[in-house]
Amino acid sequence: MEKSSGKKNTAVLISGRGSNLRSLIKYSKTKKSLIKIVLVVSDNFNAKGLSYANKSNINNISIKYSNKKIFEDRLLKLLKRYNVDLICLAGFMKILSGSFIKKFYKPILNIHPSLLPKYKGLNTHNRAIQNKDKYSGATVHIVNEKLDSGRIILQKKVKILKSDNGKSLEKRILKIEHKIYPKAITRLLTNY
Ligand code: GAR
Repeated sequence: MEKSSGKKNTAVLISGRGSNLRSLIKYSKTKKSLIKIVLVVSDNFNAKGLSYANKSNINNISIKYSNKKIFEDRLLKLLKRYNVDLICLAGFMKILSGSFIKKFYKPILNIHPSLLPKYKGLNTHNRAIQNKDKYSGATVHIVNEKLDSGRIILQKKVKILKSDNGKSLEKRILKIEHKIYPKAITRLLTNY
């Protein structure tokens, strides 16, 4: 059970690498942070990102994703137990159900590697390059029951270079993701 510290108790959900988790942990340790990360949950027991939670002594739990209902029921119990006020999806690659979102009844944020509403779903960087877009970018948005469709909190553009391939663009956008996720959290929690 986590005591209130004036900061919002936050759970970060991951599936893999965890570089956004790492940046959120870094932010959460700053004076100006409005969140305390009380829990990290992964649907993947081998997620590399779990090591960042371990290094910072943050409770972390992997839940086997056998089916959506069982996963979400277990997740809801954990969120209650840790008094979680805010969920940040950080490379969490499962879609949360409308029923879960209603039951949690508090904000859920997601970071997505495109300029939404363009390129919902997967393979965003290659799709932007193939369409010869001049810009791509990253978006932090509220999660609702439709994929990558909730209210946008913050978005930042990245120029697509002639020399770019999916990998190089991903790398530049990831750097931007690490900057805008903490800013979006501040924006959400202070309503500015
Ligand atoms: C990030 O680029 C994030 O925007 C993306 O997965 C990557 C996770 O990287 N999320 C999605 O595509 C969700 N639809 P990370 O594990 O290093 O943070």
